[in-house]
Amino acid sequence: MLKFETGGCSSFVKDAEYKEYVGKALEALKVLENETGAGNDFLGWKHLPSLTLAGRLVDECEAVRKSWLTKGVDLVIVIGIGGSYLGAKCAVEALSHTFAKSLGGRKAAPEIVFAGNNLSEEYLCEVMDLAQQKNVACVVISKSGTTTEPAVAFRIVKQYIEQKYGKKEAAERIVAVTDAARGALKSLSTQEGYKTFVIEDNVGGRFSVLTPVGLLPIMLAGYDVKTMLKGALEMEQACARPSEDNPAVQYAAMRNLLYNKGKKVEILVSFQPKLQYLGEWWKQLYGESEGKDGKGIFPASVICTTDLHSMGQYIQDGERNLMETTVTVEKAQRSLVIESDEQNLDGLNFLAGKHVEECNKMAQLGTQLAHIDGGVPQMNVSVEKLDEYNLGALFYFFEKACGVSAYILGVNPFNQPGVEAYKKNMFALLEKPGYEEQTKAICARIK
Ligand code: PA5
Repeated sequence: MLKFETGGCSSFVKDAEYKEYVGKALEALKVLENETGAGNDFLGWKHLPSLTLAGRLVDECEAVRKSWLTKGVDLVIVIGIGGSYLGAKCAVEALSHTFAKSLGGRKAAPEIVFAGNNLSEEYLCEVMDLAQQKNVACVVISKSGTTTEPAVAFRIVKQYIEQKYGKKEAAERIVAVTDAARGALKSLSTQEGYKTFVIEDNVGGRFSVLTPVGLLPIMLAGYDVKTMLKGALEMEQACARPSEDNPAVQYAAMRNLLYNKGKKVEILVSFQPKLQYLGEWWKQLYGESEGKDGKGIFPASVICTTDLHSMGQYIQDGERNLMETTVTVEKAQRSLVIESDEQNLDGLNFLAGKHVEECNKMAQLGTQLAHIDGGVPQMNVSVEKLDEYNLGALFYFFEKACGVSAYILGVNPFNQPGVEAYKKNMFALLEKPGYEEQTKAICARIK
């Protein structure tokens, strides 16, 4: 069971202040549960764990997995960006052996690579270099179907697959995850006969990891998405409780209280390198949901102890506008003991007989205490181990807390008007038809 703790904040906040914010969080929760707040047409994610476990989606994903295994597919290119990318990337990284590729991959699972999450020509060329050595299939994910980065990547991957296997076979090797009815990707899929999975209108990209957007690639990578949904379901229930022991209420309350005390930056910390992309997923979730109307906690992330040797100085001693939330994995799933050394030239014999993870745990505790002393309040989210169940719980917990937190802050968590600004400039600079006036204006500006 996921646990949330605020003990490392006690020297920064008074009990009465925290109680006041828990009250605000419970009010915000009521708005979210009653669906009366801003963006209430985007709340389809709230019941995804229970609804998906009761439905047929997992079986449909399994059918794709089996059919591609029968074809001998050993590389799946997953195309998508933002919410159509980060959840799957996070889960695949968190659950996979760090050196899976060099070790020959997982049994009965293709390698998963991601594309369409940038516009780097070099990156895409390298994806295509890999494709040439492999038996390839592709999942293209875009709710709108019009996002430039995935659309560019898909045009290239689609042409490659069609040339390599022929148009008929290509239609069996491409699956699209997109809007039910609208959008260019939907029309293209219908025309080409691709299998499609639907992203419901009422689920926004960054809340979509528990839809086919995340579940299909995670399943193709060989992981148990039913168990992931069960972990999420436990949090769907726990985070709906209108009570002070609701972990989403507690987290939303404490981070808003700290924000109002000048802690404008929240760092998501993990001492497990496999959780690097949990930080990336979380940053998008909170950054896009809360950073608007001139408000919002700035989300950052670090992996420790690695980043203690790069960011540690700042966190300990720089501007005092930071708070930290550590995602703790209680149990290591592997075992490695440090041996005694006769010469002891490195002076480490005091560690002999200890597990490496015990050192990691003491590093975590020591860091948290040092950061409290340095003025950085500490929140903690812990799970027993790193597996599908707990990852599902983490996804749902952070999503629900995000909705509650953004309502306390007074913003609409489910829109992202700021994302359009760069797109307008990019289209003007690339001379997209319809942007003639903007092209003239931007050219004059950069002359
Ligand atoms: O959270 C969001 O809505 C965004 O990050 C989108 O997921 C991202 O922009 C990709 O959009 P689309 O799936 O329409 O290509």
